[in-house]
Amino acid sequence: MNEPYSPATARPVSSTSPSTMKMFMTFLAVFIVAQTVGTVLFCLYLHMKMDKMEEGLSLNEDYVFLRKVQKCQTTEGQKSTLLDCEKILKGFQDLQCKDRDASKEQPKFEMQRGHEHHEHPRSLHKNKTFTAVEKREPIAAHLAGQMTKKTVSVLEWKTTMYGPMSDNAISYQEGKLKVKEAGLYYIYAQVSFCTKAATSAPFTLYIYLYLPMEEDRLLLKGLDTHSSSTTPCDLQSIREGGVFRLREGDMVFVNVTDSTRVNYNHGSTYFGIFKL
Ligand SMILES: *[C@@H]1O[C@H](CO)[C@@H](O)[C@H](O)[C@H]1NC(C)=O
Ligand SMILES: *[C@@H]1O[C@H](CO)[C@@H](O)[C@H](O)[C@H]1NC(C)=O
Repeated sequence: MNEPYSPATARPVSSTSPSTMKMFMTFLAVFIVAQTVGTVLFCLYLHMKMDKMEEGLSLNEDYVFLRKVQKCQTTEGQKSTLLDCEKILKGFQDLQCKDRDASKEQPKFEMQRGHEHHEHPRSLHKNKTFTAVEKREPIAAHLAGQMTKKTVSVLEWKTTMYGPMSDNAISYQEGKLKVKEAGLYYIYAQVSFCTKAATSAPFTLYIYLYLPMEEDRLLLKGLDTHSSSTTPCDLQSIREGGVFRLREGDMVFVNVTDSTRVNYNHGSTYFGIFKL
């Protein structure tokens, strides 16, 4: 009856105890390792998830900002006191400026505009500059003869009331016209002069390309020896013009065989150039 408590039955318990213990310990170790690995994996997952959420949040912020910009560009939006339109539009323009500076291109996205008269001054300014680039002023200069008493080797010129002078593309110095852009140019000149019966040498009008390092190159030449009358001044004119390919910084000038005979009456002596 008291058998259960006999040492015979107790022995198997005590003999199996170490192996159970061993199994239990092994299980515990495996469990702990699994737990640790699981925790690490979960932490990694959580971290990635947080990153994604953060990204999503910032995208959402961008979206809200763009919505605000869009609203501000409508008439109702500008009236709304909830939106600080001035600040929002300024922020948006700053962004666009950065974008343009970075790529030197037109803005990648053009917002749909509200009514024309509600346009921001900045966008008006932008439009003006764009049209200025498109409808560029022609490059041209037309000058009138500048009277000089002494004999000169290069005729001198002055601007006139209606004659153009593209100061940003053509400059004038000591009788020479200098082009800032390379290209095809029509160059022309007219000189009116007195022919005296006594002189038989032809009066010649030249247009030269000025070359500082070498001999100047003749572009155009016109001659006149006509002298039928015996009056002290038989007035005549020589006119010439032609198209030439000029390089950046090239200079052209006009000279005549005898500059003292040039007539400077209004409209009779002139020099001009324009880019084709
Ligand atoms: C730009 O200006 C021109 C006139 O200079 C006007 O006809 C045109 O509608 C303007 N464009 C925009 C987008 O405002
Ligand atoms: C006109 O200019 C050319 C080129 O510089 C020069 O050779 C010539 O002597 C000049 N003519 C006169 C009359 O000054």
